[in-house]
Amino acid sequence: MSDKLNLGVIIGTTREGRWGPVPAKWIADLAERHGGFEVDLIDLLDADLPQHLAERDMWSTEGDPTGPVAALSERLHRADAFVVVTGEYNMSIPAPLKHAIDYYMNEWAAKPVALVTYGGKTTGGQNAAQHLRQIFPELRTFTIRNSIAFPRFYQHFDANGDFTKFDEEEPGATKLLEELEWWGRALTEARRAAPLPSPY
Ligand SMILES: Cc1cc2nc3c(=O)[nH]c(=O)nc-3n(C[C@H](O)[C@H](O)[C@H](O)COP(=O)(O)O)c2cc1C
Repeated sequence: MSDKLNLGVIIGTTREGRWGPVPAKWIADLAERHGGFEVDLIDLLDADLPQHLAERDMWSTEGDPTGPVAALSERLHRADAFVVVTGEYNMSIPAPLKHAIDYYMNEWAAKPVALVTYGGKTTGGQNAAQHLRQIFPELRTFTIRNSIAFPRFYQHFDANGDFTKFDEEEPGATKLLEELEWWGRALTEARRAAPLPSPY
């Protein structure tokens, strides 16, 4: 059995013409090369969740064992750690990302998440990151310290259309992955040793 951690890299935007898949593939490739992770690139556009949360049993997939809700549940369950990659929308996170977070509960619990953000303004998506740092503890998910932010990302493309900031950020991304692996291993062991107590 592989001792690699299962890493879910989540593309948080679904907009037509979005940039999100580019930084998501960058961090996913770095994670593959890092060696400690088996990477699952999770695109919320493909996940195709229903638009509305179910009225009852919304945190159970029993009523929908083969549909998109269960399919994403299975992938989130399998992950030992996450990287969420997202642009900033109106000083916060895009609605499809919040919807996917809200759709699940135990899938997120006692797992670490790292944040890679970008934005049109100088903050590089830090407002989105700060909101995720507020949201995830409610799901008992731990946001790690190290993060990556690309401010005004659209100003950094070369004549071939390649983004020019990835090399500069690679050392920071390596530190992020080291920290994520440490927390991922610690929390995976903790989950195996004993179930997380119910918050209720
Ligand atoms: C609805 C909307 C709101 C936005 N609000 C912000 C914002 O508050 N701060 C910011 O830095 N960029 C903002 N932007 C710029 C986005 O961060 C930028 O367009 C980015 O490419 C969006 O990610 P995506 O291309 O993966 O969809 C906004 C973009 C959209 C579409």
